Amino acid sequence: NWTMSAYRQKMIEKIREQVGTGKVICGLSGGVDSSVAAVLIHEAIGDQLTCIYVDHGLMRLNESEQVVTMFRDQFNIPLVHVDAEDLFVGELEGQSDPETKRKIIGRLFIEVFEAEAKKLGGADFLAQGTLYPDVIESVSFTGGPSVTIKSHHNVGGLPERMNMKLVEPLRELFKDEVRALGRELGIPESFIGRHPFPGPGLAIRCPGGITREKLDILRQADAVYLDEIRKSGQYDKIWQAFAVLLPVQTVGVMGDGRTYEFVCALRAVTSVDGMTADFYQFDMNFLGRTATRIINEVRGINRVVYDVTSKPPGTIEWE
Ligand code: XMP
Repeated sequence: NWTMSAYRQKMIEKIREQVGTGKVICGLSGGVDSSVAAVLIHEAIGDQLTCIYVDHGLMRLNESEQVVTMFRDQFNIPLVHVDAEDLFVGELEGQSDPETKRKIIGRLFIEVFEAEAKKLGGADFLAQGTLYPDVIESVSFTGGPSVTIKSHHNVGGLPERMNMKLVEPLRELFKDEVRALGRELGIPESFIGRHPFPGPGLAIRCPGGITREKLDILRQADAVYLDEIRKSGQYDKIWQAFAVLLPVQTVGVMGDGRTYEFVCALRAVTSVDGMTADFYQFDMNFLGRTATRIINEVRGINRVVYDVTSKPPGTIEWE
């Protein structure tokens, strides 16, 4: 893409100019925005950049390994992988209020990130994958419902506290342009085209009290569901698809015996921007096949239901 290649060069110059010989830290989330920002900045200033990936243990199956491998091995970007699962899940255990979960995760994220940044000897700049819509949102919303319904997790307050300046190379771009830039930078299509994933991860897909066991069950069910979606060629038609583990046990039969296990809800929606969404119209055979696989392969689930709520009145996530 000619335009993106020119934009890439322009941004590389700008980053060099801004950063000079300074040190930059970038928090990776595993998402497209922070990944594209990191690869672009690395191209501009090389190993003056270090990435920090705070692994909260709430990612999907094998996701953390994929992120770490891509950055370290494919792009050779210095990356600190912080395994903070015990810390996060330990504090989340038994928590059921959605906002409390988000607050715990947001607070721990900042604490862990700050501690790691200090271990690196600090930095002059903090890199963020802020997009143009984020910029507009933060100036135009003055405490209306859109900002108070859910506290989104970011490293707010950290740059000031640590005396770092911000590097935000994607501030002028919309999501589709970030994807185009990512392709231009050689980030694999399988990564660029990924569905959005919320910062608090699986914690908000596990309504009711969080336990390690429930997170593990959910992770397995989600992996089976996404595998079926990919295999059936529907992944790119869907905005987001995921499993939710309900805090409800129901009776089932397995062989000669009765079972009493959790219910798994499947969610899939189409959307343009996540602000409104329609439930995705799967074929019933697909749903039946997927339910059978989940129940056969995931211990702890004996019933699967499909969510047919659109947004509004529902939200995409369950919490
Ligand atoms: P809802 O559930 O509000 O979701 O319809 C709209 C979009 O936002 C994502 N989402 C979040 N992302 N932190 C995030 O980073 C959050 O706390 C959060 N809650 C929802 C959701 O996955 C969907 O893409």
